[in-house]
Amino acid sequence: MTVQPNSIEARDKAYQLHSYTNARALERDGSLVIDRGEGVYVYDNNGKKYIEAMAGLWSVAVGFGESRLVEAAARQMAKLPYYHTFTARSHGPSIELAEKLIQMAPVPMSKAYFTNSGSEANDTAMKMVWYRSNALGKPEKKKIISRIKGYHGVTVASASLTGLPNNHRSFDLPLPGIFHTTCPHYRVFKQEGETEAAFVARCAKDLENLILKEGPETVAAFIGEPVMGAGGVIVPPAGYWEAIQKVLKKYDVLFIADEVICGFGRTGKMFATETFSLQPDIITLSKQISSSYQPISALLINENVYQPLADESANIGTFGHGVTAAGHPVAAAVALENIAIIEERDLVGNVRALAPKFQSRLKALESHPLAIEARCIGLIGALELKPRDGFAAGELGPKLLAVMVEKGLISRAIGDSLALCPPMIITEAQVDAVFNMLEASLDAFQKQIAA
Ligand SMILES: Cc1ncc(COP(=O)(O)O)c(C=O)c1O
Repeated sequence: MTVQPNSIEARDKAYQLHSYTNARALERDGSLVIDRGEGVYVYDNNGKKYIEAMAGLWSVAVGFGESRLVEAAARQMAKLPYYHTFTARSHGPSIELAEKLIQMAPVPMSKAYFTNSGSEANDTAMKMVWYRSNALGKPEKKKIISRIKGYHGVTVASASLTGLPNNHRSFDLPLPGIFHTTCPHYRVFKQEGETEAAFVARCAKDLENLILKEGPETVAAFIGEPVMGAGGVIVPPAGYWEAIQKVLKKYDVLFIADEVICGFGRTGKMFATETFSLQPDIITLSKQISSSYQPISALLINENVYQPLADESANIGTFGHGVTAAGHPVAAAVALENIAIIEERDLVGNVRALAPKFQSRLKALESHPLAIEARCIGLIGALELKPRDGFAAGELGPKLLAVMVEKGLISRAIGDSLALCPPMIITEAQVDAVFNMLEASLDAFQKQIAA
């Protein structure tokens, strides 16, 4: 990209530090500035059109430019632009959203609690687990188990839960008391000659061994994404969650299901808790809750978590936690309208209807000479590229992504995996367009690297 002096791209380089970006590379190359969006499409600052096949950051369920969300925000802004839920104060949108989420919950839940980001929701989940253990007179029960390649956010606590090296390196993380168990990616983590069923049994055994090594009386909770997203779209093998949950039950370890990506339809059910028959004590939600038109996240907690927490708040005199904009009325109003759209337009049904096409076209690319594995469920997937002489691990993905973006297809390179997670309003013709562009990009990239 040639960056003109004083252009918006030049000002971006001059003034803004970007997340998940090599700051020196950005100084040189600048960023892609997106100007507007409509449906599954976004347009850059120069008017070029792209299919946003990542729904932003796994977020924009109802697509871009949804006027009902704009109107819901404007109505709420005019009526009550801000209020909080501290110190026994409340407001209509947060009450309505809490009620809606408890009614929708895939397993019986007691209360909804609001935060602003997925990271904050998981950070809060960890604090609630600690608070609960103290309330139960088990101050030693504080350790949390997460998984290698799990992604739970970037705050000090949630980055510690995340099991990816770039979220720990040079940040002096993870915090003590957080442990990472085996990642359920069969192709990568299987042992020589191990069947998928044996791999699943080993994942459960590894978890059990870790709990026993640390002492079951010290392990408070396990956190996991039903389908790992930022770790590379890793769909666990059959029987994995059943085996894991058995171990958690055996040792009285709480289960936090991080549905920040999966929630609100992504896997073909409203919640992946249903897709995988999970029995979580806490569910964390964000992203598709409001299609990320407004920042908002939520925790759903069951009685097992709520009752001791309520007792402890009574003992202390307060639940000493909360952020200023939590359950923000505008964000809550937008989330309510967004969920209404998901339900009215049966977008979860659309995910189920289009999943066979999405998955068969993605799986077909597994036989492309550049590919090694396609992984998918519902309308989320990834294509992983084969390691290749002359390229370091993680180098091919971003290079292919650049070709895709050039052709007008936005995806995300996670190492050498290209992720796809389109808005849930996508049509069959648009799914075909995504894969036609991906195929053309793979072919062009193959020629480019062979040259
Ligand atoms: C599964 C999961 N949990 C938590 C988070 C963190 O959410 P946020 O970026 O809103 O803090 C993410 C973000 O991608 C996520 O994918």
